Amino acid sequence: MQKKKLIVANWKMAPAGTKEAQGIFRDIAKAGAGSRTARVVVCPPFVFLPTLAALRSKSVALGAQDVFWEKDGAFTGEISAAMLADLRTQSVIVGHSERRALGDTDEMVNRKLRAVCVAGITPVLCVGESVRDHEGGHVIFVRDQIRAALQGVKRSDALRLVVAYEPIWAIGKNAVRPATTEEGMEMAIVIKKTLTDLFDRATADAVTILYGGSVDEKNAREFLWNAGMDGLLVGRASLSPKSFAAIIASAAPLPKTSAVVKRRKHR
Ligand code: PGA
Repeated sequence: MQKKKLIVANWKMAPAGTKEAQGIFRDIAKAGAGSRTARVVVCPPFVFLPTLAALRSKSVALGAQDVFWEKDGAFTGEISAAMLADLRTQSVIVGHSERRALGDTDEMVNRKLRAVCVAGITPVLCVGESVRDHEGGHVIFVRDQIRAALQGVKRSDALRLVVAYEPIWAIGKNAVRPATTEEGMEMAIVIKKTLTDLFDRATADAVTILYGGSVDEKNAREFLWNAGMDGLLVGRASLSPKSFAAIIASAAPLPKTSAVVKRRKHR
């Protein structure tokens, strides 16, 4: 049977209130319950985690958007991985480019990722270049980001890792454009090769690879089925239950007949 696609919602700093967060979450849970081909994770702002955990959805898991690496102590404003585990947070995003822009270095991303592993939570490691060049500098940049983030990580932890390829130029309101399927596919291969070199082929195959950056209901299917991605990391479109439901639905393969029809049309 086909492995389920992983669809992760990154709500960033939205919505503004609890009621709205609950409403969007309930709608997403309905869409998730209707899917047999997608695993859905919603990463809301920290403050909504307890109230959304209380809704006890079976179809949608919860994730966090960041974490601090220390176990406990005098770290004003920080949240530990153990606190997130206590709320049954299943995944934590580390190394998102918006956090890197606010000061997270490769070393901090590595410490966060290792703390997440110790807590038994799945890390969703974000990597991605800010510009592409013809010499392939973006390939080296992403490879180095992965190597730095995974320093000292055990193979047993790497097995449940999620790596999201999020080119910075494709993310958010100021995005130039989404990546093409070819660009996505190329980077999925680079990620797999880097993981094979760091660990081994079996580990690289076990890792879930996501694409993120201006994913919407129109391009989701293409990334999942033509770029060979194991899933998607969705920002803006994840706050619109209608769009996000359509993205979840795109995790279902098209019936064989329509593939045949499409091929015939192209002849
Ligand atoms: P976007 O954000 O889908 O709004 O481009 C993606 C992300 O930053 O994770």
